[in-house]
Amino acid sequence: RDAGQLSADLLAWYDVNARVLPWRTSPEDRRAGIRPDPYRVWLSEVMLQQTTVAAVKDYFHRFTGRWPDVQALAAAPDAEVMAEWAGLGYYARARNLLACARAVAARGGQFPDSREGLLSLPGIGPYTAAAIAAIAWDEPATVVDGNVERVMARLFRIETPLPAAKPEMTARAADLTPQLRPGDHAQAVMDLGATICTPRSPACGICPWMGDCAARAAGVQAELPRRAPK
Ligand code: ADE
Repeated sequence: RDAGQLSADLLAWYDVNARVLPWRTSPEDRRAGIRPDPYRVWLSEVMLQQTTVAAVKDYFHRFTGRWPDVQALAAAPDAEVMAEWAGLGYYARARNLLACARAVAARGGQFPDSREGLLSLPGIGPYTAAAIAAIAWDEPATVVDGNVERVMARLFRIETPLPAAKPEMTARAADLTPQLRPGDHAQAVMDLGATICTPRSPACGICPWMGDCAARAAGVQAELPRRAPK
């Protein structure tokens, strides 16, 4: 089946099964085409790098409760932001977070609306730029994290080990990215990887891509993705 059909089935699954997360809009808003606040998308994506969804939720609530928009965060004293970040680790991220908030506040509080503009901000690399472009702006940017790599490895039975397989996984993920609802598509692949296409004992029986998965057809889903020995 072609990429359009695969994405359509995934989006239908996501419409019913999307995880309810504090930085997401409601299903009603999604249907109405209401986009999430780029500040909340940016903050959540920075927090989610190297930290689990479960751990991030409380931090996200505390940050957005205290600093509801990018101007508020930009105006916060460094020490208060660092103290609120304590426990998330990777303190360079918190310093970049503040530098980025101040850069955005200096341009009137609007995040750049292109991937290139986003990439020019402190602490925003290719992953975060693609996530904001797709989720906040609904641009067909391809978002690739560990979940997405695992899903691509299995769907297309990529036997090449990581990290050498990354370019192929990214290319496959890009081929699947739809023009319509790319932000929901990006989050749907991540949710699929987090809830169904899990590292161990994937729940293939309830996967929207069950009939399309090359790894499952060969019975090798539990072995993928492969990793080069250290
Ligand atoms: N992991 C990182 N960003 C995510 C998102 N927007 N949805 C689900 N999982 C994620």
